[in-house]
Amino acid sequence: APTLGQLAAAKGRYFGSATDNPTLTNAPYTAVLGGEFNQITVGNTQKWMYTEPSRGQFDYTQADRIVDFAQAHNQVVRGHTLVWHNQLPGWIDTVPAGELLGVVRNHIANVAGHYRGDVVHWDVVNEAFEEDGTRRQSVFQQKIGDGYIAEAFKAARAADPNAELYYNDYNIEGIGAKSDAVYNLVRSFKQQGIPIDGVGLQAHLVLGQVPSTLRQNIQRFADLGVDVAITELDIRMRTPRDATKDAQQAADYRAVTNACLAVTRCVGITVWDFSDGYSWIPSVFPGEGAALIYDENFGKKPAYWAVYEAL
Ligand code: XIL
Repeated sequence: APTLGQLAAAKGRYFGSATDNPTLTNAPYTAVLGGEFNQITVGNTQKWMYTEPSRGQFDYTQADRIVDFAQAHNQVVRGHTLVWHNQLPGWIDTVPAGELLGVVRNHIANVAGHYRGDVVHWDVVNEAFEEDGTRRQSVFQQKIGDGYIAEAFKAARAADPNAELYYNDYNIEGIGAKSDAVYNLVRSFKQQGIPIDGVGLQAHLVLGQVPSTLRQNIQRFADLGVDVAITELDIRMRTPRDATKDAQQAADYRAVTNACLAVTRCVGITVWDFSDGYSWIPSVFPGEGAALIYDENFGKKPAYWAVYEAL
């Protein structure tokens, strides 16, 4: 039977998974990771706390292992992420306001420069908006101001001219105040000639709550002249699983896959790891989980077969 990666490739797309370093030594895990997908996202170890743990000191040891794995398995890599308010090293808070833009530019030049030619997409800026569409008051927003997002994209373009540059966020899958804010950002970047190539819809979704405007929302971004990717898909439920919830989850995965395939510029789908035993959900949403397409023992769930059929 074809893999999800092969089915997606036949439609000019990718179907990928995030992964993290601790699982790279787990043979049953890596058999699926290397065999099933044609794209990998570096789930943690390209984040700032790993890549620049002290100011001006860069470390790519862990992320390189994931990129090497992907290349050995003919998988393209999404880089994740250059500028984000979480998983920052502590020293960031001590940078004087007047120096922070230079620090951001230097970080991007180094990290995107190191991976130049090795990543197809960069999530340049992650999660910069609040639910109401106002700017999140991150250290970057507070010390640099509104312009930090444009500056990050310009620095990323300079560091790796061939990587496609994405703005990535959650709760922007459907039309609403937050996705409107991202829409307006992309439109203004396009008008001003600030480089941006794509919008990542994280899609950390809740069982039975795929937004009804998902396809329309993907289409309106595409109509601005950017690609769209589903970047961190998982669909969580109250645990334990049962057959009814599994069937709903399968329908939800099918709906997301169909919405992406309906828009030419929706270039691919990434699950935020692939097995329920290796998902971030239970640690962050107590009582919830079973959000992915394989169970803890790498058995294919109904959600897997729904994606398979939709692709
Ligand atoms: C998560 C990782 O999966 C966890 O292992 C880590 O502890 C926290 O970050 N949005 C993002 C991802 O953009 O980087 C986050 O990843 C999940 C939410």
